[in-house]
Amino acid sequence: MSDINRFDDLADFAADQISALLGLSARLEQHPEPEALKGKVLSLLFLNPSLRTLASFQASMTRLGGGAFVISPEMSIHGLETRPGIVMDGAAAEHVREAVPVIASYGDALGLRAFAERRDLVEDLEDREYRNLAELVSTPLINMESAINHPCQSLADWKTLDDLGISERGGKFVLSWAYHPSALPLAVPSATMQMAAMRGMDVTVLRPDGFELPPLVMDKARLLAERSGGSIRETDDRSEAMEGAHVLYAKSWSSTRHYGDKHSDYQLRNRHEDWCVAEAWFQQAAADCRFMHCLPVRRNVVVSEAVLDGPRSVVVAEARNRMWVQMAVLYAMLGPGL
Ligand code: CP
Repeated sequence: MSDINRFDDLADFAADQISALLGLSARLEQHPEPEALKGKVLSLLFLNPSLRTLASFQASMTRLGGGAFVISPEMSIHGLETRPGIVMDGAAAEHVREAVPVIASYGDALGLRAFAERRDLVEDLEDREYRNLAELVSTPLINMESAINHPCQSLADWKTLDDLGISERGGKFVLSWAYHPSALPLAVPSATMQMAAMRGMDVTVLRPDGFELPPLVMDKARLLAERSGGSIRETDDRSEAMEGAHVLYAKSWSSTRHYGDKHSDYQLRNRHEDWCVAEAWFQQAAADCRFMHCLPVRRNVVVSEAVLDGPRSVVVAEARNRMWVQMAVLYAMLGPGL
């Protein structure tokens, strides 16, 4: 009997389970178990692009003695249709309703990436696309980033904070919006705020007017913070947010005021091109304040090259931690357990 059957959302797990996963991850990093998942297969379906998730899941399975295969729409497949009720007389010759259970049937677990459609905020907040696809499979399932969540990234970020010795209680975590030329999903900022709240940190969301995170996302994080002894607040005042900060986690996201309206979003975000993280942002922060980002990141747009290449930046360690934490999830899901 596996300890984990679904890895959809970090908030589905109790503090002792997260702690056990992080402990297992550290153990596998120190003491490899190259036969733990011998003969096991992980199916990976990417409906959207990836570098880290794609490579780290394959590396994770290989390091544990199992194997993985990848399917994505860019490959030589028949073209995947995702819309329900569609008359399939266009380019796509295969519907996800058949493709997803077929792909899942070749493996012992399925990893699924399905980004937000970014047309309807309510649908995306309900994670409707991911949930509809998840209903089609009976194997264990891992969320490799959906409309509103990215639990593998969050677990890796939690490990990175632990590795750096950044306090849980009293640790000051700033999640800041940053400029980007396009409207990006809410998955990483939502999952990141939630992770820091679950870790018991004092979280400040720093964002310009019009880029507030949705009330549903804020309320969930506040509830998690209450349980862990952390706190959540939001502001558009950079100096106030950065006062004493131990971590600045940068990410761009769509304007929730103009969600699904690319033109209005573009007009609003273009007023904030100066939201590019630079060394000057850290003046009021703790001396050793770290810079985090999930990657990929646009140099000198989201963050200055000096910060990204400087001693504050831990972005490569974060990305590497994806592999160790995913190994723990796979070990708990398909192997000996926690
Ligand atoms: N952070 C992250 O998930 O990276 P990829 O989109 O490259 O997988």
